[in-house]
Amino acid sequence: MKKILILNGPNLNLLGTREPAQYGYTTLADVEAFCKAHGEKIGYEVECLQSNWEGALIDRIHEAGRQYKAGELLGVVINPGALTHTSISLHDAIKGVDPLPVIECHISNVHAREEFRHHSWVSPAAAGIVVGFGVDGYLVAIDGLVRKYVNSAATKMP
Ligand code: DQA
Repeated sequence: MKKILILNGPNLNLLGTREPAQYGYTTLADVEAFCKAHGEKIGYEVECLQSNWEGALIDRIHEAGRQYKAGELLGVVINPGALTHTSISLHDAIKGVDPLPVIECHISNVHAREEFRHHSWVSPAAAGIVVGFGVDGYLVAIDGLVRKYVNSAATKMP
């Protein structure tokens, strides 16, 4: 079974208790469980990794590039947390493993928040962006990945 990788960056391990008005009460364990269950339903094995370390995320993206080339991985959904707004290294890592599809996902609508959250270093390297759907956004991103690269509605138009 092909894999989809879900990556979560700094502080997302605190989901459920961290600023619930912004991120809700669902824990990361719950998010990972419903992503895995959804993946199984649509025929993909979902693997999840959260790290507070930029380098660990970059190493995993490099490995994902190898898995993609080997035909083992459909793509990656990443919520880079605040690294979104600071990390040129993450941008370069995603560019470096092109054409691995990487979907950027944010729980909150970053554009309706502080100005420093409006810029993303990841967006120019991303295959798609999901913003502001709460934790359901991870499922939107998984479905978007599958629709864009496997079952596009456009290809099914009469
Ligand atoms: C976030 C938005 C970022 O600005 C913030 O630093 C996060 C979470 C989100 O999911 O809405 O850690 O990526």
